[in-house]
Amino acid sequence: MKTVYVCQSCGHSTGRWVGKCIACDNWDTIVEEIAVKTGKRSISAPILIKTLSGSEIITPSRFLTGIEELDRVFGGGIVQGASILIGGEPGIGKSTLLLRIAANVVQLSSFECLYVSGEESLEQVSLRAKRLKINEPKIKLLSTVSLTDVVATIKENKSIKFLVIDSIQTMYDSRITSAPGTVTQVRTCAHELTILAKQYGVSLLIVGHITKDGQIAGPKTLEHMVDTVLYFEGENSNQYRILRTIKNRFGPANEIGVFEVSEAGLVPVDNPSSLFLMAHDREVVGSAVFAGIEGSRPILMEVQALIAGTNMATPRRAVVGWDINRLAMIIAVLNARCKMFLHDKEVYLNIAGGLKIQEPSADLAVAASLISSVVNLPLPTSSIICGEVALSGEIRNVSHADLRLKEAQKLGFKKAIMPKNGNYSSHDIEIIKLGHVRELREVFNYN
Ligand code: TYD
Ligand code: MG
Repeated sequence: MKTVYVCQSCGHSTGRWVGKCIACDNWDTIVEEIAVKTGKRSISAPILIKTLSGSEIITPSRFLTGIEELDRVFGGGIVQGASILIGGEPGIGKSTLLLRIAANVVQLSSFECLYVSGEESLEQVSLRAKRLKINEPKIKLLSTVSLTDVVATIKENKSIKFLVIDSIQTMYDSRITSAPGTVTQVRTCAHELTILAKQYGVSLLIVGHITKDGQIAGPKTLEHMVDTVLYFEGENSNQYRILRTIKNRFGPANEIGVFEVSEAGLVPVDNPSSLFLMAHDREVVGSAVFAGIEGSRPILMEVQALIAGTNMATPRRAVVGWDINRLAMIIAVLNARCKMFLHDKEVYLNIAGGLKIQEPSADLAVAASLISSVVNLPLPTSSIICGEVALSGEIRNVSHADLRLKEAQKLGFKKAIMPKNGNYSSHDIEIIKLGHVRELREVFNYN
């Protein structure tokens, strides 16, 4: 038996133990594993050669969940035979979500679902189902960690077209001696399962745990194997969760579905903007409402900044929900282009509601909230803001401007601070056009 040393973070393997992985630079992630013998496999994909011509393209059939928030995230339903990975921290609500998806799918189709729980006993799963008021005979439960059991069950029951694995970290292929949860086990099990799914036309949903810093074997090394990768995000202390598409071979990526946690399970949120905006009865210093786009949908979010004096040589910069490097860039631009010096001030930035913004068009909202905090004046009453800030201080255009304005209008906003060069169709909203961050200062005297 040959021993290899595998990084549990990126999957890189070496012949000897090292303290730091040379591929991903993580420390103390190398674990000793037994090398997998690549011999005869029990399952093999059928060899089919086809020509690439339009007439042979078959539109895959999809399972609908009937919940719009979910179907959109899957790109219009779950494709038959697709393998989907749902990653998330422990306790975030993955099992709850999957049971709901399974129940809805079997209700809307003639097929059955196999729910494999490697973590919980059948009693625990049944108790959860009872709490969620799910009483569905077409959901078959299997409490096992053995990959062989799962493969055999799928082969024997042709009516099962929907398979849930909760979680991949518990699955165990007895041909491999490595412990469950190690990169080798996780990868081999996921690989076998995806082949099984394609071969039998079974839609496969795999749960993968990730820790806060994304360590521990698993989802990261599986992402290229599956068709769709979803991440279930949210703080345990928060009332809502976001299901985000990271990759999708059958639809657009970056879509999000927003859900509220309740005693009876996850409740879809139809109008997320109202959830992420805080109700203020007057204008607040240091706050800006950013009109963002998540996937195909506009969402309004509140950016909050706080600037405080400090005696420390290196003042703190803390960010929740945004990229700290991007904040450093905005602070530098404000310094160089607007003569606004924050080098001796602590800067705190928060996206209210726990949403993580990835769009660069939030730059202007961040700059505005920082300036607002410094000049101690609020932005114009009932206004939204968006725009990307270049290093020169110029404000770049944003995509989907009309979609953002429409959403703002729908929620009763009266003004929008937007890039100068954009084309805007007529809205009932007053547009304040800016070409440079310098001009932001004048906006504070606008009211
Ligand atoms: P669970 O689905 O077990 O999380 P995971 O599978 O990701 O580890 O959910 C964690 C806990 O939260 C569990 O005790 C049930 C509870 N919960 C609710 O009560 N309502 C909800 O809507 C959700 C999502 C979870
Ligand atoms: Mg679970």
